[in-house]
Amino acid sequence: MRDYDPAKSFDADSARYHDVRGDEEEAVAFLLSRAGDRRSLELAIGTGRIAIPLAAAGLNVEGIDIAPAMLDRMREKPGGSAIPARLGNIVDVDVDGSFGFVFVLWNTFFNLITQADQRRCFENVAARLDPGGLFLIEAYTPDPFFKLDGNQEIKTEAVGNSSVRIGALRHDPATQVIEQNHVTLSAHGMHFAPVVQRYVWPSEMDLMAELAGLSLVERFGGWREEPFTAKSDMHVSVYARD
Ligand SMILES: C[S@@+](CC[C@H](N)C(=O)[O-])C[C@H]1O[C@@H](n2cnc3c(N)ncnc32)[C@H](O)[C@@H]1O
Repeated sequence: MRDYDPAKSFDADSARYHDVRGDEEEAVAFLLSRAGDRRSLELAIGTGRIAIPLAAAGLNVEGIDIAPAMLDRMREKPGGSAIPARLGNIVDVDVDGSFGFVFVLWNTFFNLITQADQRRCFENVAARLDPGGLFLIEAYTPDPFFKLDGNQEIKTEAVGNSSVRIGALRHDPATQVIEQNHVTLSAHGMHFAPVVQRYVWPSEMDLMAELAGLSLVERFGGWREEPFTAKSDMHVSVYARD
């Protein structure tokens, strides 16, 4: 998708963005168990869906995000303005000092749409981790895209009296890039919400980690520490710096 800009896209849709996913309680419990009392950083903190409850539980957590309007939404929430958060790209991880725990949730690592950017993210996280520090990624496994007819799909996402939302998706297995657009049609006209992602299998992720000097220490198929198996549609992976 030419001219795709995640900052513009998330900014434009921040008001419509639905920031409840249903996994918050278990995600927070798992993250607290691994973070301990380490200085922590959420990459792509968004509206603080997870960072706010983490901070409320006493975690020293900070964040970066590329979309100013998402950070504004976090700061409007109770407790949100107390979380140090800066505008930035998770490719660069431009932050002060080092961290004991860095994490990126809800498939957002895949929002880096080239392998080069994903590798740079790993390298920059590794450079900012304390010795023994942890980097956690929560992401989907990309199976469903391989079942698509002709590497594309159109889905009816919502149907109302005077509006419908249609999802259009195209998959390029060669580059591992998914281009999506959620299109709302209503009496007010059309609204486009594009998202582009580059997925990776856990094996490629582990290799990027290794190249950055990190090693896999834990992988689960869910926040409740479900075993990661061939049937897992997501994974929570934890890497450590030596
Ligand atoms: C699906 S939301 C997840 C927000 C939050 N982590 C959560 O779990 O609720 C994705 C977030 O990633 C941010 N984002 C996308 N690409 C980014 C990038 N390259 N650097 C920093 N933030 C990015 C978006 O602005 C958005 O806030």
